[in-house]
Amino acid sequence: MLYTESEIPHFAGVRSEKENNIGLIFFIYYTQMIEKTSLADLRTEFKKGSLDEHDVKKDPFEQFDVWFKQAVAAQLPEANAMAVATASKEGRPSVRMVLLKNYDEKGFVFFTNYESAKGKNISENPMASLLFFWESLERQIRITGSVEKISPLESLEYFRTRPVDSQLGAWASHQSSILTARSALEAAFKKMLEDFKNKQIPLPPHWGGLRIVPDEFEFWQGRESRLHDRIAYKKDHANNWKIVRLSP
Ligand SMILES: Cc1cc2nc3c(=O)[nH]c(=O)nc-3n(C[C@H](O)[C@H](O)[C@H](O)COP(=O)(O)O)c2cc1C
Repeated sequence: MLYTESEIPHFAGVRSEKENNIGLIFFIYYTQMIEKTSLADLRTEFKKGSLDEHDVKKDPFEQFDVWFKQAVAAQLPEANAMAVATASKEGRPSVRMVLLKNYDEKGFVFFTNYESAKGKNISENPMASLLFFWESLERQIRITGSVEKISPLESLEYFRTRPVDSQLGAWASHQSSILTARSALEAAFKKMLEDFKNKQIPLPPHWGGLRIVPDEFEFWQGRESRLHDRIAYKKDHANNWKIVRLSP
């Protein structure tokens, strides 16, 4: 990696040439040290919290609500960003980030193009797994369950709240299909801009919410010496949530 002096904030101030040179030598040494650090050496001790199976909420939705509100209160950037894993009917997995837009006792909702790669996976294999990772809280939450489309009315309600450009984007982008060039996407966007000029933009039929209806949750709190706390909730035969502690 190459740096010019002016890119290094420390050198932007008024300093003698000698001071600058010493600083620069340290800076180069430091960046080279970072570059030499192997991934195997990157490790953190987790010390921020603990999780006890006797203290957690009996209902995993309530436990999620507690942790999610703490993530928001901690002002984490994109606390509602989550990875969604799906699989084709042959079992080929695929994962991507999306934004959680709603959650309640029915499940966890995000919005997407139903004809995208994930949409196709879900139409042939309606199962998904969600993962939240909140690094500064040393926490992750895993949620797995079946997937259903929310009603077009619910999707429309959310669609209306999106900025106009995002609404047009939902019409213009055939999400996950191959584009010959970026210009083709921009032309499609421009066409939508003209088509819907001075009109209320309707909900695209291929766009809407997907709800993950969980049958499994796992709350993970990082602990020292890799002895992490893992509290899992699984539905039993009587449809009640059973709480277990898992080995880290
Ligand atoms: C932080 C973040 C949030 C995202 N949120 C969404 C989302 O809510 N819905 C969506 O369809 N794609 C979202 N994307 C884009 C997806 O990661 C992905 O590129 C897209 O949905 C196509 O995925 P697919 O080809 O696997 O269907 C987001 C990406 C990032 C990095």
